[in-house]
Amino acid sequence: MKRTLAIVLLCACLLMAVSAQQQEEEEQDTLAEPYKCPDVCAALFDPVCAQLGRRYRTFGNKCELRRYNCKNQTRWRIVREGACPTY
Ligand SMILES: *[C@@H]1O[C@H](CO)[C@@H](O)[C@H](O)[C@H]1NC(C)=O
Repeated sequence: MKRTLAIVLLCACLLMAVSAQQQEEEEQDTLAEPYKCPDVCAALFDPVCAQLGRRYRTFGNKCELRRYNCKNQTRWRIVREGACPTY
């Protein structure tokens, strides 16, 4: 009886260790994401307004923005959801 309990606990510990490791990998993926250049972006239109210095620019979606920044080594940052207001 005691041995069964020990085996069950051991298995539970192993499972937890494995899932903890997977979580770590997922977190690293998210951290590395801004440096990855997506080659294709979903053609969904979900515009964001980005700013670089004193310039404003509307991007089709967040992925387009990330791709642009990555490919062009720029740092446009989102200032609001939706297209930039035109003055
Ligand atoms: C990089 O910048 C050029 C000039 O603004 C633009 O035409 C091009 O689409 C940009 N590259 C990407 C991947 O968005």
